[in-house]
Amino acid sequence: MNVSLYRLRGHFKGLLFILALVIIIMFLFYTQKLVGVLRSQSRQILEFYTQLYAQAASTEANAGLNFIFEQIIQRTHFPIIQTDVEGNPTAWKGIGIDPEDHSPETLKKVKKMIQVMKKEAGPIPIKYQEYLLGYLYYGDSKLIKQLQMLPYIEIAVVSLFILVGFLGFRSIQRSEEQFIWVGMSKETAHQIGTPLSSLMGWIEILKSKKLDPDARKTVLEMEKDLERLNQVTARFSQIGSRADLKKVRLSSVIDDVVEYFKRRLPQWGKKVEIVLNGQGDPQVPLNRDLFEWVLENLIKNSLDAIEKDTGTIQIHFGELRNGKKHRIFIDVTDNGRGIESSRKRDIFKPGYSTKKRGWGLGLSLAKRIVEDYHGGKLILKETRTGHGTTMRILL
Ligand SMILES: Nc1ncnc2c1ncn2[C@@H]1O[C@H](COP(=O)(O)OP(=O)(O)OP(=O)(O)O)[C@@H](O)[C@H]1O
Ligand SMILES: [Mg+2]
Repeated sequence: MNVSLYRLRGHFKGLLFILALVIIIMFLFYTQKLVGVLRSQSRQILEFYTQLYAQAASTEANAGLNFIFEQIIQRTHFPIIQTDVEGNPTAWKGIGIDPEDHSPETLKKVKKMIQVMKKEAGPIPIKYQEYLLGYLYYGDSKLIKQLQMLPYIEIAVVSLFILVGFLGFRSIQRSEEQFIWVGMSKETAHQIGTPLSSLMGWIEILKSKKLDPDARKTVLEMEKDLERLNQVTARFSQIGSRADLKKVRLSSVIDDVVEYFKRRLPQWGKKVEIVLNGQGDPQVPLNRDLFEWVLENLIKNSLDAIEKDTGTIQIHFGELRNGKKHRIFIDVTDNGRGIESSRKRDIFKPGYSTKKRGWGLGLSLAKRIVEDYHGGKLILKETRTGHGTTMRILL
């Protein structure tokens, strides 16, 4: 995809995000406002009740108070507590405590609730003319409490919805990518396979003929190249299939790859030394075709990174023990130009390349083979610009 399209998509996502944020904020603001209105209304109603209450209190003292409390206050939907002038609770409702129970422990509990209610809204004094008779403490009704929760519940539901959608979309996209990737590899292997086997047949025919020594030598070289091509198609045809891993001696796999490169080094036009340095001779379950591909990609990158006329590539392998766990590591170290720290994250992305003829596929393919097919890890262990790089495979 070209860069401007990428950027456009980025802008679009950002815009969507901001829009969603604005909607959520508006929604929150609206519900809070609604709750505020409801709250002030309920407070007005309550104040009206208390006035009634206070008037009734003036006429028939305690009996009147109780009557009003039962007839009016009991019918409200708020949690409400009535206290005397000193702040001792005398009656309550809707606070989850039995109104009949006036034991000292209960009174203590009710007093605690008064402290909580005080924070939400100050008490309404019950007065008759100049005389203060007591206070009414009240809290928000259940409905208001639920309304207050509503935006948060909605935000949670919407976020969950978006998350599920996003994950679903990503997995579809991933499997599609995988599908194309696998399909291309298999198709390539298949298409190359047919002319390749007929070429092998032609070589066999040539070999059976009487040839002068030079021609024979050429035919043998051609055979080697064909074998190599066979190996390449074998790799491609295995992409996407369940890789069957066989226990092999790691050193033999690495030796083969190193030999292959040593034979070809003269063609590279640089004097590069490949040094092999292994500890022990571990046996590892590997898919040889695919794993050789990984090593080749790493060594090729190292060769490319060596810009001077001489250089060294060191391949170091062995076992790492960490308590009970033990893993095999293979380090490929070069003294090439290194990778800038701002680029460290990009090197595994498909399509990222700093080379004129690079596809930027080597490392992403290698990572996929190590991690998806062998359950291991491929990491950039160390790099310093101008000094070199170490890539590490962990199995
Ligand atoms: N050993 C290394 N030293 C310095 N830079 C490296 C090394 N290995 C990888 N890189 C950087 O990471 C980039 C991506 O590597 P990758 O192997 O994925 O692609 P490529 O080598 O550019 O192309 P391809 O492998 O597809 O031919 C390289 O272009 C290079 O900039
Ligand atoms: Mg490469």
